[in-house]
Amino acid sequence: IPGLTSRQLLGQLRRVQSDTLGFLMDCVQTYGDLVSFQAGPTTAVLVNQPEGVRHILQDNARNYSKDTVQYNALSTITGRGLLTSDGDLWFRQRRLEQPAFSRPRLAALDTFVVPAVQRLLDHWETHLPTGQSIDVDQHMMQVTLEIVGKALFSIDLSSQAPALTSAVLTTLDHIVHRARNPISLPDFLPTRRNLRFRAALSTLDAAVYDLMAARQEAGDPGEDMLGMLMKARDEETGQPMSERQVRDEVITLLIAGHETVASALTWTFHLLAANPGARQRLENEVHSVLGGRLPTTADLPNLPYTGWVFSEALRLYPPAWLITRKALAEDQISGHTLAPGTLIILSPYVLQRTPAYWPEPERFLPERFEPSAEKARPRYAYIPFGGGPRLCIGSNFAQIEAQLILALVAQRFRLDPDPRAAVIPDPLVTIRPRGGLHMTLARSHPE
Ligand code: HEM
Repeated sequence: IPGLTSRQLLGQLRRVQSDTLGFLMDCVQTYGDLVSFQAGPTTAVLVNQPEGVRHILQDNARNYSKDTVQYNALSTITGRGLLTSDGDLWFRQRRLEQPAFSRPRLAALDTFVVPAVQRLLDHWETHLPTGQSIDVDQHMMQVTLEIVGKALFSIDLSSQAPALTSAVLTTLDHIVHRARNPISLPDFLPTRRNLRFRAALSTLDAAVYDLMAARQEAGDPGEDMLGMLMKARDEETGQPMSERQVRDEVITLLIAGHETVASALTWTFHLLAANPGARQRLENEVHSVLGGRLPTTADLPNLPYTGWVFSEALRLYPPAWLITRKALAEDQISGHTLAPGTLIILSPYVLQRTPAYWPEPERFLPERFEPSAEKARPRYAYIPFGGGPRLCIGSNFAQIEAQLILALVAQRFRLDPDPRAAVIPDPLVTIRPRGGLHMTLARSHPE
């Protein structure tokens, strides 16, 4: 497989660190849809073809584990939760958690999305007369934390939000730092950074264990996701999950369901502001379907354009911009042999900007997601939620939440870029605008 030797990779290290996305895009341009990277004894292969992606995520998924640098780093936070576990444990847990994401449960999402967003928009009202810009990224982080907190624990995390948000962000920041500085000091040493990381983890643990203890004392686990996890029983053994396993699953859902949605929404607002035609069409759709009435999940099928806008934003700025696997046994891909232990890299960001599947890839065109246009594309050319058995368990949750938020915002506001602030995508755990996304507010204008 063509690609970079260890020496070439080392020569490009600065670029890899400072412009990871650009570097990956260039590699595909130079070497084609399979690119190998030699990093010391490790061979990594970037797979940028829908058939290859399908092979790894779906057809031969059992041969690919999550024992990779990316997921091992994440598991220092999430333990053996659904996102990072493998094999029998993963399979059992996935079966136990699936009912928490069933259709009727998702249909009730509006009951906590709508009030949380309305509160945020009421707060925005106070900014209107001042013309002051707001950091949309920060506001989306807050509101999505509040929403996932309600879904998980039926409590309003907004009072604890500053402490919890900062704990979540500190833990994520730590693993990004480690990924970018592979020769930094190991986690067990009491450096300032490591101590901060451990304190943040303790904050998260305490929050979850306290809630579990309170429910055990009350003799009622509750009907939210935490309650479902506490009540779940293994089909064969009849055993409940260990407390540690419940903690791992809860933290996983908190981490996976928070920043991802926030990042996607932030980029959606950025793209809408840069494409006033699309923004106008979205506003018109929302006003003609809803008028001034608050949306419910039942309205969402009548807001297709709003859904396509979100899908197109996920194409251009997929929050999970990198998906990794380790090959367990030897395998073949497009006539090439992959040795056991090969690190597989899939990049939704690169794949979803590949002209062979996405003509004029840089353009924001929500029409790409009209059903007829979608049918014309290979399924695995679009993987913002991954695919196969490990497909994101929260993909419908995220889409419903986002469509509701976009509709609620469009009913009242129009966001414009703050011309003083440049927007630079930073691929961290998700892709975030460096320094935030600063935008000014005006009232929405349906035609
Ligand atoms: C898995 C993306 C929202 C929970 C994944 C994967 C991707 C992804 C790409 C697969 C990773 C892999 O195969 O290596 C996203 C994006 C989201 C989002 C882009 C928002 C726009 C959510 C939400 C939740 C969630 C809202 C929960 C409330 C999970 C979990 C997994 C997962 C638990 C692991 C599933 C498994 O392996 O069985 N997500 N996600 N995600 N996601 Fe999401």
